[in-house]
Amino acid sequence: MSQIMEMLVRRGFIWQSFEIYGGMAGFIDYAPLGNGLRRKIENLWREFFVVNERSVEIDTPTIGIEEVFIASGHAEGFTDVAIECSNCGKVFRADHYVKEKLNLEVDPTVEAVESVIDEFNLKCECGGSFKKPEHFNLMFETIIGPGKGKKGYLRPETAQGIFIAFKRLSDYFRDKLPFGVAQIGRAYRNEISPRQGVIRLREFNQAELEFFCHPNEKKHPSFERYANEVVTLVDKFDKEHRITLREAVERGIIAHELLAYFIGKTREFLLKAGIKDEGLRFRQHKDDERAHYAVDCWDAEVLLSYGWIEVVGIADRSDYDLSRHTQFGREELSIFVPFDEPIKVKKKKIIPNMTKLGPAFRDKAKKIAEELEKLEEAGREIKLVIDGEEVTITSDFFEIKEVEEEVYGERVIPHVIEPSFGLDRITYAVLEHSFETDYVDGEERRVLRLKRYLAPVQVAVLPLLSKEDFVSIAEEIASELRGNGIYTEVDVTGSIGRRYRRFDEIGTPFCITVDHQTFEDDTVTIRDRDTTSQVRVERGRIVETIKSLIFSERDIKEVGQVFRA
Ligand code: GLY
Repeated sequence: MSQIMEMLVRRGFIWQSFEIYGGMAGFIDYAPLGNGLRRKIENLWREFFVVNERSVEIDTPTIGIEEVFIASGHAEGFTDVAIECSNCGKVFRADHYVKEKLNLEVDPTVEAVESVIDEFNLKCECGGSFKKPEHFNLMFETIIGPGKGKKGYLRPETAQGIFIAFKRLSDYFRDKLPFGVAQIGRAYRNEISPRQGVIRLREFNQAELEFFCHPNEKKHPSFERYANEVVTLVDKFDKEHRITLREAVERGIIAHELLAYFIGKTREFLLKAGIKDEGLRFRQHKDDERAHYAVDCWDAEVLLSYGWIEVVGIADRSDYDLSRHTQFGREELSIFVPFDEPIKVKKKKIIPNMTKLGPAFRDKAKKIAEELEKLEEAGREIKLVIDGEEVTITSDFFEIKEVEEEVYGERVIPHVIEPSFGLDRITYAVLEHSFETDYVDGEERRVLRLKRYLAPVQVAVLPLLSKEDFVSIAEEIASELRGNGIYTEVDVTGSIGRRYRRFDEIGTPFCITVDHQTFEDDTVTIRDRDTTSQVRVERGRIVETIKSLIFSERDIKEVGQVFRA
């Protein structure tokens, strides 16, 4: 186990699920500290992508009925190629196995995998031969209801719950584009052989924003906010650029401003969460790598001990999903977009001749006239079905006239830009990027330099001695801090030095110590995790001081006279 994984397990961030039964790859438990951190990252995401966008958040079922995933293309296309050993029976995800054993990228098709196996005489780790490769669908199947019930799937992405509620959502937004709809929740993928610990999970947490826009207006009113940011891009030809987002759009490296905007916003969010800029890049999917629904996709990748790992995918899904659900479902998922000014268009109109229709068709004449008026073109004869009976109308019963009509708008199927975040990977990436060792007083120290506002324990109150009077003051301070929304722990056990080390290791930004002087002048010390500097502060100022340190990110030097105890 790596040094960081050992720490995350020992200190209570992440545990192996089903541990007492031997565990199962692809599942983790969020232990108390990991759960606290992930929730805070989730809230930070909400601030960025819901509160500060024209967005709303919804929550839809994690189980979907079969029809949804037939329409979305997942039932057919959401597969990886699997290879099974005919000797030991182990199954591997083919592209990962080929990469690991031969350092080759192979296309995820049965044919490509088969030819690599043949060409390189690729064998299983046990020496056995592989059976013919097969496509393996990554969705978990389930049956809804008793008996034969109804087939369903655990959702492989939260997005589909949003697409199928589109009609209601566009009503909610009064049919006004653009608008965003977010969903945070569990998703499931039955990964073939997940071997990268917390990186490849079978049950994971997504935060997705589906941003619906007019197909011809892939822009964002706040693009300027990020336009001059310099980012690292790797385009689909593997060419690296250090470039501003504006230039990337102007040179056609990023297809449009809306994708560039979300790349900029994603970068701001990841940096705010504690990812280091030098370990962050945006990589465009190659043409044969994109998901079946995407016309373009940029991944945010973070450099970790596993290599460059995707933590966010920013995809242009075009009108794929709304068109497919229109085709398979019961509603037309489009929006009426009014023009700024009505436009005049010339149209052919069919004008029924009532003087002739009346005597010839009697009681059917009115219905025939109504049907004729609905038509946009006509030949010499028109066949209509009226009250279940076919009637033939020849051209002497109508006239075709060219008329000019005012048109007030058009129906469009919105396009969707989707920034999709893997919260588990982001949480782990934040932990790796924050984990450091340094030396304090000649001793090696492990410190988790989490952002102060994200730390699962923000303040530790430490009575110097475990005596009743020290402890009761510590408890009073802790309860006052908790009452102000600060995550606080009291720790009485061990030497003060060991306690400082424990809280440094779990990323607690501030320790407050109740010491002998507290009884003399009603002051405590506040110690800063990053510098280990300390200041003395009167008890009455603790809450206000801690709040300004955590939420206004003030420097410890600004709140008191620094000393080292
Ligand atoms: N919604 C994109 C994904 O799940 O990968």
